[in-house]
Amino acid sequence: MYLALIISVFISPINAIIISQVHRSSIYHTNSSCARLSNGTSAGNASIQSCIWECAHQDQCRTAVYFHDNRTCLLYSEDCQPGNIISSTDVRASVICYRRNPGSNNQCPPPSWIKTGSMSVARGYHTASILSNGKVLVTGGYNGSVYLNSAELYDPSTGNWTTTGSMSVARRYHTASLLSNGKVLVTGGYNGVSLNSAELYDPSTGNWTTTGNMSIARYKHTASILSNGKVLVTGGYVNSAELYDPSTGNWTTTGNMSVARYKHTASILSNGKVLVTGGYGSSVFLNSAELYDPSTGNWTTTGSMSVAREDHTASILSNGKVLVTGGYGSSGSLNSAELYDPSTGNWTTTGNMSVAREDHTASILFNKTILVTGGCCSLNTAELY
Ligand SMILES: *[C@@H]1O[C@H](CO)[C@@H](O)[C@H](O)[C@H]1NC(C)=O
Ligand SMILES: *[C@@H]1O[C@H](CO)[C@@H](O)[C@H](O)[C@H]1NC(C)=O
Ligand SMILES: *[C@@H]1O[C@H](CO)[C@@H](O)[C@H](O)[C@H]1NC(C)=O
Ligand SMILES: *[C@@H]1O[C@H](CO)[C@@H](O)[C@H](O)[C@H]1NC(C)=O
Ligand SMILES: *[C@@H]1O[C@H](CO)[C@@H](O)[C@H](O)[C@H]1NC(C)=O
Ligand SMILES: *[C@@H]1O[C@H](CO)[C@@H](O)[C@H](O)[C@H]1NC(C)=O
Ligand SMILES: *[C@@H]1O[C@H](CO)[C@@H](O)[C@H](O)[C@H]1NC(C)=O
Ligand SMILES: *[C@@H]1O[C@H](CO)[C@@H](O)[C@H](O)[C@H]1NC(C)=O
Ligand SMILES: *[C@@H]1O[C@H](CO)[C@@H](O)[C@H](O)[C@H]1NC(C)=O
Ligand SMILES: *[C@@H]1O[C@H](CO)[C@@H](O)[C@H](O)[C@H]1NC(C)=O
Ligand SMILES: *[C@@H]1O[C@H](CO)[C@@H](O)[C@H](O)[C@H]1NC(C)=O
Ligand SMILES: *[C@@H]1O[C@H](CO)[C@@H](O)[C@H](O)[C@H]1NC(C)=O
Repeated sequence: MYLALIISVFISPINAIIISQVHRSSIYHTNSSCARLSNGTSAGNASIQSCIWECAHQDQCRTAVYFHDNRTCLLYSEDCQPGNIISSTDVRASVICYRRNPGSNNQCPPPSWIKTGSMSVARGYHTASILSNGKVLVTGGYNGSVYLNSAELYDPSTGNWTTTGSMSVARRYHTASLLSNGKVLVTGGYNGVSLNSAELYDPSTGNWTTTGNMSIARYKHTASILSNGKVLVTGGYVNSAELYDPSTGNWTTTGNMSVARYKHTASILSNGKVLVTGGYGSSVFLNSAELYDPSTGNWTTTGSMSVAREDHTASILSNGKVLVTGGYGSSGSLNSAELYDPSTGNWTTTGNMSVAREDHTASILFNKTILVTGGCCSLNTAELY
């Protein structure tokens, strides 16, 4: 009965709907607040009817998108809001907006945390990287008394942790970057002394190998993967920066930042430049920002933030601007947020978070909303921008 209604609503525009024109219909319903994505079970071999059927038979499905060209069905537990479901304009797709039987299960379940397997070792100040096989590699850190060189893998499909090869050097305050060849580059850090060493993890063997040393020791630095595949490391109690070339395993120094920084951020802009913001250096909190141009290896200063901050976050929004949130400054923990516009080099303040946060996280959700969570040292709250 429900299926018949839906099919009759959607059957006619099937071949005409472009996904950027999200189809809205009489069964569109706004009472939902979750965004969750899964593939239809018949990926690559779906029909529009099987896509509708799957959505109708998944308790949480609110929207299904059927891609005609590759016969794929994607299911979302999110409503057909303009802007929620976005794709390129040349993809032929039908957007199926599905409403549950009113009065039964209209609402998405409340978001909740689910307990999963425990790591074999307690650790803080470690890193976590999502590998190309979907597993999560956790490296190093500190357990309250000992610096760690161990690493573990989390398998999301089982919720299990397994130990994998150990790094040759124990470290915290290091970086971990997933290279385009699938390996993970770990750089620098601290284990009682500041470290210049770097090592590579190979997911196919579970082994670590040492690679070139950085020219100097760094911790609380940043590492960013440039579009040319090289890794740009910046600061960490110094103003220097250097580039790692995965094809040779060599480091080369590049231009220096105008000031020494640590606890700063580095973000790759859509024009390929790297925006570095704030941090701490020369005994002051920094509000300055600078841009690295990979084509010249030069740094140029750009507009300064209105508030000096360290341990903040920086996220690239879908409009290309950079959202900086919270952190710690001369007045303590910060709730303020500012936006950087790469086209003008200007910062503007934007809405404050409801609470001050430092050492928190900011993640971009599927629907382009920014989820901010926690903060040092006992915040369990989260908010959306
Ligand atoms: C959304 O659902 C809740 C719980 O079912 C209900 O109380 C509320 O009135 C609904 N809001 C709208 C706009 O339908
Ligand atoms: C984006 O998703 C989050 C999490 O599900 C939700 O709370 C938020 O309202 C959504 N934002 C928009 C604009 O749909
Ligand atoms: C969805 O399908 C794509 C393409 O087959 C696959 O790469 C991806 O892992 C699938 N995602 C999930 C959550 O199953
Ligand atoms: C795709 O669907 C056709 C027709 O239902 C079926 O014969 C075929 O085995 C399916 N292929 C796959 C890979 O599931
Ligand atoms: C099918 O095409 C859509 C749009 O291009 C894409 O998002 C999706 O990943 C594709 N799925 C598969 C299995 O290729
Ligand atoms: C930290 O690691 C050391 C060495 O493995 C161990 O003796 C100690 O109990 C650990 N501390 C915690 C809090 O796990
Ligand atoms: C791995 O995961 C499976 C399924 O969740 C579970 O039954 C098993 O006990 C786990 N193994 C370990 C070593 O934790
Ligand atoms: C590297 O991995 C292989 C396969 O897992 C293993 O046999 C070998 O002992 C490892 N080598 C080192 C140096 O850990
Ligand atoms: C890298 O630096 C460490 C000390 O930090 C040193 O022991 C090692 O020999 C260096 N390796 C190379 C290849 O220079
Ligand atoms: C750079 O890498 C090449 C090839 O691996 C090596 O021969 C050379 O010695 C390296 N140069 C430096 C400065 O480490
Ligand atoms: C910028 O880069 C160019 C080309 O590498 C170089 O000639 C120039 O001196 C650099 N300018 C500054 C200010 O570093
Ligand atoms: C914004 O940028 C423009 C162009 O770079 C500049 O002329 C203007 O003074 C800037 N405004 C502020 C408030 O910094």
